[in-house]
Amino acid sequence: MASISSTLLHDGNLDLFRSDEEKGAGILFLDLVKKRTSTRRYSQIPVDRKDLDRCIEAARLAPSACNSQPWSFVISDDPERNHKICSSIFSGPYRMNRFAEEAPVLIFIKTERSRYSAMFGGLFRGTTFSLIDIGIACEHLVLQATELGLGTCWIGWFNEKALKKELGLSGKHRFDIVLTMGYPVRDNVPSKKRKDIESIRRYL
Ligand SMILES: Cc1cc2nc3c(=O)[nH]c(=O)nc-3n(C[C@H](O)[C@H](O)[C@H](O)COP(=O)(O)O)c2cc1C
Repeated sequence: MASISSTLLHDGNLDLFRSDEEKGAGILFLDLVKKRTSTRRYSQIPVDRKDLDRCIEAARLAPSACNSQPWSFVISDDPERNHKICSSIFSGPYRMNRFAEEAPVLIFIKTERSRYSAMFGGLFRGTTFSLIDIGIACEHLVLQATELGLGTCWIGWFNEKALKKELGLSGKHRFDIVLTMGYPVRDNVPSKKRKDIESIRRYL
């Protein structure tokens, strides 16, 4: 039997007694992908931690080079703390991302050490597998959020040093991405500006 859950809808009502199926598990994958968009305006409705955990679970199940799973997720869902962190990590040249302080949830993606096989393999190949791994995990996370009606935005432009200071972490730690999350103010999804499929696809 499908599980019953209770999450907040973006109109503020409790989403009681809707099964996973009813909540959109039946949505076609490509429709979910089309629905995901960068959300930069958020309502102040808090996000249920059960929903947050579901998003982290989607990230946890992501594939990674040598199954290194080189990630951890530091979550802040306290508006006051978010405001403080944002004024520190999005100041000066990073100001353009100040919209993030309106988001009820900030997720700081910590890049953890990969397995030696993935690190040496990457060095040999001239690539950084951990960044690919983080990218996949984050996209799992944001697509799960989309399914739950949540908006997200990837942020790569922030003061990493200031972030580590805010989190009380030393310089050796690495953060490559911040995700914002919350219920979008608007429901409409702007049309996607993307390269034409003909220009990116080549069958041999
Ligand atoms: C790795 C990465 C870094 C990004 N950094 C930022 C950022 O610092 N600020 C921002 O507003 N959007 C950022 N974005 C969002 C992109 O601008 C956005 O995904 C792109 O324009 C396509 O629009 P869409 O997400 O609405 O489809 C980033 C996206 C990715 C994948």
